[in-house]
Amino acid sequence: MITRQINPQTLWLTFGTPFETESLMFDREQTTLLKKTPSLPVKLSLENDRLQLTDSLSDDTRVLGLGENLRGMNKRGGIYESFCTDDPIHTPGKKSLYGAHNFLLVEGAVPYGIFIDYPGKVIYDIGYTRHDQLIITITGSDVDIYLFQEGNLKELALAFRRLMGESYIPPKWAFGFQQSRWSYRTSKEVEAVAAAFLENEIPCDAIYLDIDYMERYKDFTVDKEAFPDFPGLVASLKEKGFRLIPIIDAGVKIETDYPVYEEGKDRGYFCLNRKDEPFVAAVWPGKVHFPDFLNPEARRWFGLHYQFLTDQGIEGFWNDMNEPSIFYTEERLQQAIDLAKDSEGQNLDIDAFFHLTDTFKALFNHPDDYKQMYHQVKGEMVNHAKIHNLYGFNMTRSAAEGLAELEPNKRFLLFSRASTVGQGRYAGIWTGDNHSWWEHILLNLQMMPAVNQCGILYTGADTGGFSDNANAQLMIRWSQFSLFTPLFRNHAALHTRHQEPYAFDGASTAILRDVIRLRYALIPYLYSEYMKAAKKSGLFFMPLSFEYSEEQAALTDDQLLVGESLMATPVYRENARGRHVYLPETMLLWKATGPAGGQLEVVPQGHHYLKADLAETLIFLRKNRILVLGEPAMSVEKMDLSTMRVLAFVDDTASYVLYDDDGLTHHHREGAYTEIHLTITHKAGDFQVKVAASSHVKVKVLKLVMINAAGKQQEQVVQVVPDAAN
Ligand code: NOJ
Repeated sequence: MITRQINPQTLWLTFGTPFETESLMFDREQTTLLKKTPSLPVKLSLENDRLQLTDSLSDDTRVLGLGENLRGMNKRGGIYESFCTDDPIHTPGKKSLYGAHNFLLVEGAVPYGIFIDYPGKVIYDIGYTRHDQLIITITGSDVDIYLFQEGNLKELALAFRRLMGESYIPPKWAFGFQQSRWSYRTSKEVEAVAAAFLENEIPCDAIYLDIDYMERYKDFTVDKEAFPDFPGLVASLKEKGFRLIPIIDAGVKIETDYPVYEEGKDRGYFCLNRKDEPFVAAVWPGKVHFPDFLNPEARRWFGLHYQFLTDQGIEGFWNDMNEPSIFYTEERLQQAIDLAKDSEGQNLDIDAFFHLTDTFKALFNHPDDYKQMYHQVKGEMVNHAKIHNLYGFNMTRSAAEGLAELEPNKRFLLFSRASTVGQGRYAGIWTGDNHSWWEHILLNLQMMPAVNQCGILYTGADTGGFSDNANAQLMIRWSQFSLFTPLFRNHAALHTRHQEPYAFDGASTAILRDVIRLRYALIPYLYSEYMKAAKKSGLFFMPLSFEYSEEQAALTDDQLLVGESLMATPVYRENARGRHVYLPETMLLWKATGPAGGQLEVVPQGHHYLKADLAETLIFLRKNRILVLGEPAMSVEKMDLSTMRVLAFVDDTASYVLYDDDGLTHHHREGAYTEIHLTITHKAGDFQVKVAASSHVKVKVLKLVMINAAGKQQEQVVQVVPDAAN
């Protein structure tokens, strides 16, 4: 074991010869080699070439983290496997979802954080086998481990965040509402969706194309019959305020004369089998090859293919099936068919019958199939199972690097299904195939902060649920949560009930319109908070325990801090007319019924049952914090930013920095951004406002509503005068 110190808070332990994952980005030269390993919070042991880390857990030790995962914020009681998995049924007993996010925060007597930089499977037994033991089993012994010590939970998470490099920066329009469905199949259908949004006066910035837009599910093709004038459609939609976002899948269809297939095969860019032939698996198009995204040349080749769509005006993509998902391999399917043939005419008893059906079920993502697949890395064949969790990451990196090479100064919308730590530099993620289940609102809320801790800031769920049928109430309540997530996208599966915001009934459409307009009002704040978190390696979502130290804050796992000012407390139970909320301090409640409507009320510290009618979104403004609100429009770019409303809950002093930039380019990196610095002080019922703004700010007028803890309210209109020198 080699022990190094990255900074006084962070130890870096190297065992064997780890695979270079490129998850972290820090200056390795600037680390200090330690002659003696300091005492560690975990015990290490090696058995059968598997490294194991153990720690004992006292009754009140909480274990947070693991990014996109199942169960609550506190992972105790569960067993989890980091192995990117296409499992569309997110029930509590499952062990893996699409991401592999190997970061844990253990809050015992002395809290610590741990990141396992290992690209194969890692198993976390968090008080499952023994209630008082944490056992982390790495399925290998070549691994880098990072330990974060000395600090509270937030400081430990930030110490980890700082090792990852700058987070992905989406275009500002990607904070608008987005509408998806598997599938809007033709130009006409897409146009009808756009028309319905306009007609119903519901803001929307993007409409999605799922796999059916392609020609026989082939990446970088467009079905010409269904989309006779694709660039024309893209342009006319943009004119109306909508971007069109096509899906790209990991598998490349095997089809003679399909250029992507032919090129990939000729240049040796596909993953191989044991016989050095391209590995064959089946996904949507039937048989496919998987690009070897670990090979930098293959990565560049695939990434540059996105040009086929950017040349037609496309400005955003979602990368799917990149765990990679495998429906079947030929050999295994043949074995199953043979078994079925042998079973024909037999009297199948319970064992024989389930053996038969299970054999077919097990075709999907069979672990042994991953062992048949190889990558070529620096001239060596590397078995896929050993680096499985890097596949989706490198597909998304391929897209991001390709797009950056094609248009270096342009921000593209890009998010992926599979991911690992490091991917947050290149793109966001959506949280995959959830269901139209109430439990999945809560599940999504609970994973958001852990996903952020792994550096992925641009994220959100399929709002309304992917599988199963949503009702209007679910759609409304879920939207009242998703309006806080950077990615706010409504997406549903094939054959499900339509769940576009106008698909239910008039009254529900009216509520959803208000909820979505409320989202647009929040965009100046959400964007400002996102950009600050992205540029300064911060966090967009935090659990209450990151800011409040009392036990009740730690036990509250159905509320979230959103940026520095807000707390979200969505209603996530069917037919509920309110919910229980814990306030760690006195806060200002805005029961919002739309971008401007609703009541304000000061709610004291403590436990409360708060009424929230279906049309009411509960938004809490923390003490001495400020919320800046914009005027909604039908799309982000149509928003008039010259007048903004400010809601301030001020006990003594509150300050806020509102960040903004062009939202489309990377000029912000050279300083092309604006800031408004707002400070509001309150003394004996009197509020004083100070505003300083950099030059080029678009905001001209701030309309302030200031409230103190006693509920005293003062309104004021302030002109924003840009500082000529800044
Ligand atoms: C699986 C994805 O998770 C889902 O969002 C998509 O609709 C289907 N693939 C079809 O492409």
